[in-house]
This record gives sequence, structure tokens and C-alpha cells, in this order.
Amino acid sequence: MSIDYNKIPSPAYVLEEDKLRNNLALLKRVQEEADIHIICALKGFSFHAVFPLVKQFLHGATASSLHEAKLVFDKMGVKAHTYCPVYVPSEFDEIQAISSHITFNSLSEYERYKTKMNTGISYGIRVNPGYSEIETDLYNPASPNSRLGIPRSLLGDMLPEGIEGIHFHALCENTSHTLERVLESFIALYHPLIQQAKWVNMGGGHLITRKDYEPDHLVKVLKAFREKYPNLEEVILEPGSAVGWQTGVLVSTVLDIVPNGDFPTAMLDVSFTCHMPDCLEMPYKPRILHTVDKSPYEYNMGGMSCLAGDCMGTWCFEQPLQVGDKIIFDDMIHYTMVKTTTFNGINLPDIGIWHSDDTYEQVQTYGYEDYKKRLS
Ligand SMILES: Cc1ncc(COP(=O)(O)O)c(C=O)c1O
Repeated sequence: MSIDYNKIPSPAYVLEEDKLRNNLALLKRVQEEADIHIICALKGFSFHAVFPLVKQFLHGATASSLHEAKLVFDKMGVKAHTYCPVYVPSEFDEIQAISSHITFNSLSEYERYKTKMNTGISYGIRVNPGYSEIETDLYNPASPNSRLGIPRSLLGDMLPEGIEGIHFHALCENTSHTLERVLESFIALYHPLIQQAKWVNMGGGHLITRKDYEPDHLVKVLKAFREKYPNLEEVILEPGSAVGWQTGVLVSTVLDIVPNGDFPTAMLDVSFTCHMPDCLEMPYKPRILHTVDKSPYEYNMGGMSCLAGDCMGTWCFEQPLQVGDKIIFDDMIHYTMVKTTTFNGINLPDIGIWHSDDTYEQVQTYGYEDYKKRLS
């Protein structure tokens, strides 16, 4: 059965366990068929109440800060693959204690921490693979001037002493065909270094769980890479979006309807800027359940903050909207709750799980104390 929205308090992010299981099963299949490791990127999916489930399918998780690494260790019970764009010196020892892999973003960071490197951890460097197909600058980590990853020109033909792995991240909601082209550039630039490495981490952005993705093609690409480099003990992918893709919704409620402008605006108990920031940043128009392509009942959706741009439009409904109606934003599990703010004192939505046995579990609820604690 699908979610019974009468059982969900508003507002709430609701993850559907069955949908997550399906995503994880597909990722596990790719992992096994391609003989690689897939780890979950916390920056996109930090829903730690389901980490025990994620751990049953994937090979751990990747962290980009001390707190993410701690969450991996604490809630998944494994050491993290940690890559931070820059490490905070006072945090490095703690990060080392809870990481299996540590990747440096620059040669100066490698030099800074070289003397602290120890045998229980495998160290890597992040490089710029020199190619990406991401058109939005905000999400393109592999542009020629990117601060993320060492450019080829700064590296010789030998991996720095003690470095066993090479990491790149150049995809964002891309296909395996884009990965194939990134790999061509990566190999052309870094071949001698890849031959010396024990592992290669191909970052995130592999949208393996999207309907039109071709997992079999990905397996083929990865197998070919593995065959070319038999020296590699481990090939890693670290998707975030693909884990949480289409696994749940943000439930909201119409609190008022204002008639101003070309179309009326349904004023909601959620906010785009606080609860769905990528809609404004990327930008993209989210799908709302039970809307139709065309109807006389066309509305903007208005967020509850005072930000003028905290609104989007328009969606058509079969019936005129009424105060109290539920508005269900689809696909609101990845890159939402990890990015929320309490701007304007707006409360955070609950976090809940719709379980496979059709029960609802509220796993998190917020209030004034959460808002106050972030300020002083
Ligand atoms: C280094 C790194 N790895 C993995 C990811 C996860 O990417 P995605 O959620 O698009 O799969 C990101 C996203 O920004 C990243 O920066």
C-alpha cells in the first residue's frame, strides 16, 4: 500500500522504506556485478534512522566533515571514507580515529598532514579529471578553475609517498555514458598514476536508480576499467542522490490562499528556501502529487518565510484548493533535510518513515529549542 496521508502530521519529510529497499537492492546488484564498492554520500543522504538498513546493502559511507564521519561511525557502525575540501587541524586526529580512507584535496594538505599519516588508514588524493558535463556552475566540481581536486599540471608521474588512492568527482545526476567520457579524460591524464594506485574512487553523481539509467552499461564500463587496471584492489562509487532518489515526499498543508497577482498563491506550512532549497538554487520545479497538466485551478505555491522569492509557480489541480488541503512535494528525501535552515524562525518539518508493514514512525520532531540553540 502507499502512504496514508491522513496518518502523517504536517509538515513532514516521509521516507518510504520499500522504495529505499528497491534503490539499495539495485545498487547492491551493480556493486556485485561490477566487483566494486558503493558507499553512501552523507552530503546527499544523511537519514541516519535508516543507516542500519543501508549498511545491509552498501559498503559503508563517505563523509566530508568531522561530523559526517562521526555520524557514519556512530549510526552505521563503520569507519568512514573521508574527503574534506580542507581539514581543520584540531579535528584531524579525531577524523583519523574513525576513517578507513582519507583523501587530500591538495598537495599542500598532503604535506601538512604527511607526518601524521598512519598505517591503519589508506590515504588518497583528489584530482581534477579534466572533463565534466555539468552545465550549472554551482554544481560543477571539475571546471578548469575548480578549487576541488589537484589539477594534472601540479602532479608528476609518481604518486606522492604514502598515497594509495585517487579520487575524482565530476558527475551530477549523470548517466553511465557521461562517466565513460569522464573516464576517457581521467585515463588520458592520469594513466601512470592509476597504475600505481590501490584504489580509485569515482565520486558521486551516478544516478543509478533513475528509471532511464542503464545499470548494465555502467557494469560494462566499470568492468572494462577494472580489466585495464588489475593493480586496483578497490574501485569505489559514492552516490548520495541515487540512494535517496524518489524514496519519499515532503507533506505540507495549505494555510491560506492569497488572490494577488496573475494566479492565486497557496500559502503553505513549509518554505522553499528553508526546506527545499535546491528548488531555488538549482533551480528546478518539483513535482506535486495529484496535480494535472491543465485545469482552471492554477496556483502558485508560497513558502511561509518573508523572502520575496520563497514561492514557485504554477501547478494545476482538479479541484479548487481549500485551506487545510495537503500539498505533497515528490522526491524530497535527498539534498533536502541535509540543507534545511530555520531562517525566519521557521520550524523544521518532522522526519518520519512509512514502513513496509504500512505503519508510520515519526523519527524526529523539532521546536523552539532547536531554533534557539543555533543562535545566540
Ligand atoms: C566528493 C563528492 N562525493 C559524492 C557526492 C555525492 O553526489 P551525488 O549525491 O550527486 O551522488 C558529492 C556531491 O556533491 C561530492 O562532492
